[in-house]
Amino acid sequence: MKFIKATQYNVEFVEKNYQVLTSLLASKNYSSVYLLVDSNTEENCLPIFLQHSGLSIPLEVISIEAGEENKHLDTCMGVWESLSELGADRKSLLINLGGGVVTDLGGFVASTFKRGIDFINIPTTLLSMVDASVGGKTGVDLGPLKNQIGVINTPQMVIVDPHYLETLPGEEYRSGYAEMLKHGLIRDEEYWKILADFSAINTSDIEKHIFHSVGIKNEVVTEDPYENGLRKILNYGHTLGHAIESYFLTEKDKTTLLHGEAIAIGMILEAYLSTKLCGLDQGQCEEIKSTFNSIYPPVDINKQDIKDILALLIFDKKNSHGKVKFVLLEAIGKPVTDIIVEENLLWEAFDYYAN
Ligand SMILES: NC(=O)c1ccc[n+]([C@@H]2O[C@H](COP(=O)([O-])OP(=O)(O)OC[C@H]3O[C@@H](n4cnc5c(N)ncnc54)[C@H](O)[C@@H]3O)[C@@H](O)[C@H]2O)c1
Ligand SMILES: [Zn+2]
Repeated sequence: MKFIKATQYNVEFVEKNYQVLTSLLASKNYSSVYLLVDSNTEENCLPIFLQHSGLSIPLEVISIEAGEENKHLDTCMGVWESLSELGADRKSLLINLGGGVVTDLGGFVASTFKRGIDFINIPTTLLSMVDASVGGKTGVDLGPLKNQIGVINTPQMVIVDPHYLETLPGEEYRSGYAEMLKHGLIRDEEYWKILADFSAINTSDIEKHIFHSVGIKNEVVTEDPYENGLRKILNYGHTLGHAIESYFLTEKDKTTLLHGEAIAIGMILEAYLSTKLCGLDQGQCEEIKSTFNSIYPPVDINKQDIKDILALLIFDKKNSHGKVKFVLLEAIGKPVTDIIVEENLLWEAFDYYAN
């Protein structure tokens, strides 16, 4: 059995048999156990959970509507009320079975119910396995503003079971894969090269790559728990990527982009900036561009879009003193932080993406 030691808990990689969960439950003697799912994970993941966990204890299932648009306080109210009506107390446990929406929201609900009960996360999307499984961030959105309400708190355990990925829609899979490619770009050139050949990665390989990605994120987060320095490198592709994501979300006549699709564009744009400001080799930049273009559909971004996206950049939470600071690359695997970029270069980067 493989695991990664995160701050105060383990990320356990399991195969069909959730022995680690059974042992934890036996040692903790919880008064009652609740399982939070969304409408999709209830249908696709709950049967696998019941089969693989082999739990014999009674379990109450609480279900919420799927989707980021439901990641807000009203949904938490519903879950808190269900817990209360079902008789949950200080010694209850909440197991969150779902993507990042369920694990973020469920983690927050558990952290605040009766001033905090234990919770376990079982991520069921690739994104939540490789990204939301370490770092201790829990929370919900406030209107259109992402993750504005929340607390940092750690689960008792995270269980990664790649079997859940079998029902995950292809575009959601690719969205999570973008974060894995990012892990290669910021930390491990060899890993990047392996992942870049997307069509060669099959389901039997993915588990070891998830393990490697969780390891990279965990290393970075453990070294810099309060986001003072090193942790910034996880934002590669995200400065422009977030602005693109919010823009496409709010524009009525645009189709929304998944998080990974938006940061894939961000990583191409920021690779271009890296050649101009940090000496990233042209060839490596081209390799980054062609890799992302081979996995993610091209997105049409016109002049007005760029203008609006750049206006959104100033709202990025990483801004300080009105300057937008970027994480760029000196080379694949070698990030540099706090680089200030002039506006004309940003326009050039979009030009590079389009052509
Ligand atoms: N806490 C953190 O450190 C952290 C890190 C990254 C992202 N996040 C958060 O995670 C969220 C995004 O996560 P996500 O991409 O997992 O979104 P998500 O939870 O909305 O899942 C995406 C979609 O896939 C469905 N789904 C989930 N598992 C499935 C499965 N196995 N089979 C079929 N369908 C399935 C969901 O119902 C949903 O419709 C965002 O809210 C983001 O803020 C948190
Ligand atoms: Zn991300």
